Amino acid sequence: MSGPIGWLASGGGPLHGEVLVPGDKSVSHRAIMLAALADGVSRVEGFLEGEDTRATAAAFAGMGVRIDTPSPSQRIVHGVGMNGLSAPRKAIDCGNAGTGMRLLAGLLAGQRFDSVLVGDESLSRRPMRRIIEPLARMGAEIRAEAGDLPPLRIRGGRHLRGMLHTPAIASAQVKSAILLAGLQAEGVTEVREAHPTRDYTERMLQAFGWPIEFGPGWARLAGGHRLAATDIVVPADFSSAAFFLVAASIVPGSDLVLRSVGINPRRTGLLSVLRLMGADIVEAGRRGQGDDAVADLRVRHAVLRGIDVPEALVADMIDEFPILFVAAAAARGTTRIAGASELRVKESDRITAMAQGLQALGIGVAETPDGAVIEGGALAAGRIESAGDHRIAMSFAVAGQIAAGPVRIGDCANVATSFPGFAELARSCGMNVRDTDLA
Ligand code: S3P
Repeated sequence: MSGPIGWLASGGGPLHGEVLVPGDKSVSHRAIMLAALADGVSRVEGFLEGEDTRATAAAFAGMGVRIDTPSPSQRIVHGVGMNGLSAPRKAIDCGNAGTGMRLLAGLLAGQRFDSVLVGDESLSRRPMRRIIEPLARMGAEIRAEAGDLPPLRIRGGRHLRGMLHTPAIASAQVKSAILLAGLQAEGVTEVREAHPTRDYTERMLQAFGWPIEFGPGWARLAGGHRLAATDIVVPADFSSAAFFLVAASIVPGSDLVLRSVGINPRRTGLLSVLRLMGADIVEAGRRGQGDDAVADLRVRHAVLRGIDVPEALVADMIDEFPILFVAAAAARGTTRIAGASELRVKESDRITAMAQGLQALGIGVAETPDGAVIEGGALAAGRIESAGDHRIAMSFAVAGQIAAGPVRIGDCANVATSFPGFAELARSCGMNVRDTDLA
């Protein structure tokens, strides 16, 4: 890990100007994976040069895929075809990335060779049974610690069969692992979801020429086709833009434009929720393909009010809850979050991490098993731990902008997993986030 050990966030001025946040993490992972298995050379523009996505690129380099880096946000991937990967010589390190590990498990389950997937301390605590069980029903053989935790030991040379899967939880990672295993399975693989999740795997398979049918909450493909190299332009990550959407909403006098942000509806639940709370966010210059467009988002300060967050929007904003907690703390009145128990198995237990952090800043928060009740109020100075979670660290950097005194945030190096350069970019538009060596 690189980057500062801690941050000091306090009383920022209004946010102004234009900001371009880094490329989308979900899209960057998938672009490398499919380009590696395609026939021919693919160019990826706007790649997220974060630790998570670099780990995925390194995984394929370790399986014999040449990946050139002409600049930090570009990758040129020399695809080896569906059966062209070579056996990795050592365990594949997915770092902090649940997406990397779960999607790779699906892809590697049908390869000829054995492989082992390992992760960092946080990833080593995250549940994998959700992919192991359905993949096993397709014929895969994957062993995990206590049947659930990394490392994952994947046996090669298995014959996979397509199947219909209806996941019990809303998870794009589970859906994607099944679909990617389905590429190498005999027959049809179909996933039907109770709550639609992000559809980047489906869209990208289509872009690489794999026959696939899909719509909100369902996807169907057959094994045995090939992927044709293509060029991918990665949009700016809505989940990274989210920190600035909330910061500009809560700091008086702010007027900020976020450029070229991906606005796939399966990602932008926070936009709807912030608008319900009274936020002033205007979309302009929508461009790109259908639902998967990008747009510029102009956000101006507004007085937010607490709401009951509609449960139907939870899956569409699953990564945005840490920063929503901050918006709720800054709002007038009470905000209730429910139906979000998945937050307990992210990079940290995000319900507990946010509740404890906000309590340390004087905000009333009551945890529930699947959410929280947050009383808006005045934020005080205080000391926070990020729980080794990038989104917790960035959320409290935003909270610090309206706190009565300095907010000290420990353990911020993990921000490099998804948003290298966050603190510099935040400073460039008026936020006050300084690196400190606080341990
Ligand atoms: C992701 C899916 C979500 C999300 C994660 C990225 C993806 O995870 O939280 O950051 O790229 O498919 P779950 O599938 O566990 O909900």
